[in-house]
Amino acid sequence: MAANFKATWPMSLNAPADSLEAKQPAVDNGLDVVNPERYYAAEYMKKEWHLMWPRVWLLAAVTPDIPEHGDYSVFEIGHEEFVVVRQEDGSIKAFYNVCPHRANRICLNERGSVERFTCAFHGWKFGCDGELESITDEMSFAPELVAHRPGLTEVRCDVVGGLVFINIDGKAPPLREWIGLPPGYIENYEIEKMNVVRHVRSEWLANWKAGIDAFYETYHLPHIHPQTQGVMEDFSQYDLYPNGFSRMIVPIGVKSHRVADQQSVDPYQQYMLKEAGIDPATFKGNAHDVRGAIQQAKRERGKRFGLDNYDKMTDGQLTDSWATGYFPNVQIGMHPEGVFIMRFLPHPTDPERFFYDNITMFRHVPDPSYAVPGWMGLPEGLDVTGATRPNVEHVPAGIKPNLGEVLDQDVELVAAVQRGSKSAAFRGPLWSDQEQRLRHFHRELDRYINSEK
Ligand code: FES
Ligand SMILES: [Fe+2]
Repeated sequence: MAANFKATWPMSLNAPADSLEAKQPAVDNGLDVVNPERYYAAEYMKKEWHLMWPRVWLLAAVTPDIPEHGDYSVFEIGHEEFVVVRQEDGSIKAFYNVCPHRANRICLNERGSVERFTCAFHGWKFGCDGELESITDEMSFAPELVAHRPGLTEVRCDVVGGLVFINIDGKAPPLREWIGLPPGYIENYEIEKMNVVRHVRSEWLANWKAGIDAFYETYHLPHIHPQTQGVMEDFSQYDLYPNGFSRMIVPIGVKSHRVADQQSVDPYQQYMLKEAGIDPATFKGNAHDVRGAIQQAKRERGKRFGLDNYDKMTDGQLTDSWATGYFPNVQIGMHPEGVFIMRFLPHPTDPERFFYDNITMFRHVPDPSYAVPGWMGLPEGLDVTGATRPNVEHVPAGIKPNLGEVLDQDVELVAAVQRGSKSAAFRGPLWSDQEQRLRHFHRELDRYINSEK
């Protein structure tokens, strides 16, 4: 089969050609089958640490977590930790979370607010700008040992649309250039006006890329998550962007084309109508009309509540999930009401474990008629006003992360795929066009791994 073979399937979102929703041109990523070693070999994991992780921009924090001078948030990846901290002038800096004296972690909490950083071991003090302020009993040090005034080691940090990124080796292209998404794509959601309302970090028994693979396609929906068929199309629109970025548009509020009855309104569609303020009992349309009716209702609601950014969004964007892949290890399910940030964090030592970091952000609208959509899956009674930032819920391996039935199904699936990937009979993944985002991601990863440093 020619490498430029292009499959088609019944997808029609009818997006305006000049909108951010429009189908992107196809990218020929060839048909190479990758070696499954990348999912379990310690050697490959080392290469990732040497050749990939330090050279990319990594999502380290979100701006609503650090609104004021001295507010900090710690980002952990592999064996490294970084502190992202708001400066007096409103800018944000990032430092390795390590004391230059004897390597103690400077920040022992995941988040906090400080006037300065004080190391708990011997009390050295550092400003929020990372500069060394004082050394305890400095007269007991030979002056030449500390003459360089050892401060915190800074790493490059930049912000796009409320998302804070760091680049460890400092040599990546400027963030805005490096992000493969068009201007406005992220910004239109106004993530900086949302708040983290839930944060769960669960440990999964698989390589971090097996996690990425499972969340980068909807091909598996009818088989692993058949319960989604009443309200979600699984033939997504897949789009590939530069630098390994990609997106899938998952139409929501519609029945899968696989469901025989395409007319009657599914109970979950009824629920979604109700949430949008439409009485399902008097709704005149059929199952095909639900998505459009919800879009219209949301548009009106956006106007009513002064959510001006809705004007920059297509109708599709108001209902559908724009699951967007930020190379290398983030996918964000982007919705006007809120975003679901998934970070796939490699384990410090074991290539067959990763942390699935799930951050739910919601834009609070102070009106009793504006409720959190049910599909966000937030527990009852959760504070969504932004008044309190919840602590990270840490879920050890082997325990379900309590993020809903669909996620529970994925935890089991991904662990089984991990075990299978080591079988002598497995020669590497055979990706279809519905899995083109996986190919695009792995091709970009290969560019780093195969490059000389
Ligand atoms: S390790 Fe930080 S002051 Fe000694
Ligand atoms: Fe899944």
